[in-house]
Amino acid sequence: MRTNQARRVVVTGAADGIGLACCETLRREGWNVVMVDIDGERLAERASRLGAPHHVVDVTDADALSALADALEHRDPELGPIEGLVNSAGIVQKPLPPEHLPLAEYDRVIAVDQRGTYLSCVAFGRHMAARRRGSIVNIASITGMRSVPLHAYGPAKAAVIATGECLAAEWGPSGVRVNTVSPGYTFTERVRQRVETGERALEHMTGTSALGRVVQPSEIADAVSFLLSNRSSAITGINIPVDCGWLLAPSWSTYGGLRHPV
Ligand SMILES: NC(=O)c1ccc[n+]([C@@H]2O[C@H](COP(=O)([O-])OP(=O)(O)OC[C@H]3O[C@@H](n4cnc5c(N)ncnc54)[C@H](O)[C@@H]3O)[C@@H](O)[C@H]2O)c1
Repeated sequence: MRTNQARRVVVTGAADGIGLACCETLRREGWNVVMVDIDGERLAERASRLGAPHHVVDVTDADALSALADALEHRDPELGPIEGLVNSAGIVQKPLPPEHLPLAEYDRVIAVDQRGTYLSCVAFGRHMAARRRGSIVNIASITGMRSVPLHAYGPAKAAVIATGECLAAEWGPSGVRVNTVSPGYTFTERVRQRVETGERALEHMTGTSALGRVVQPSEIADAVSFLLSNRSSAITGINIPVDCGWLLAPSWSTYGGLRHPV
């Protein structure tokens, strides 16, 4: 069996945040990482720092994704086939009531977060299924599992979780595993900036989680790394929340909230 040393993984949304943290962790663990993002300038800078190949692709562009997957499959055969895929490319929306949410913003979030994840899975997964080997990890969100005032983003992330189950059943017989990681509030550079400008309140993100803190990007990357690796060889079609206990804490409010140690 091939070790991680000789395995190649494609990461979308690789120029920043969780995608970048995944690239750093996977590179450290010996994977050959191929970085994909729409933001060419940031991607080039981050890829050169990691010494990784990079490709500027918009995940809403089915033809571009297909062309990239075909090219990587046939180019540099000594590097081996693509055996891992992490779909982290994503955008958020403003928490507007539906009466005020522009339809163009709704459509863009669905196009990138839901359709883009599916398109990337198909572009790379079909080669994995034909070779009968591969592991895909999609990044969804806890907002796909609970109601929040994000009327495009939440449903798109719920669809990402459902898509993971559908594709896991579809490609399981072909030896391809498909799993989902649902991050809680994760302290990426972008989130840090929003806290600094007052757009987001840190205490709103930490106060409702059992562990009382936000998630670090590297903690998402650790779950992704596990699901990509042979250590999870019997696991497919699951969704792992990595959320510091955000999903389980709010229902305690009916009983006066979490009990803090005295
Ligand atoms: N940060 C959080 O708190 C959090 C929580 C839950 C889920 N998530 C999810 O994690 C994933 C990564 O989020 P993040 O916080 O790292 O965001 P981020 O904004 O820091 O990084 C996202 C990356 O995706 C890229 N991207 C955006 N649209 C693209 C497109 N059309 N094609 C290719 N690349 C594109 C961006 O250029 C950026 O580099 C997203 O799917 C997001 O929804 C994040």
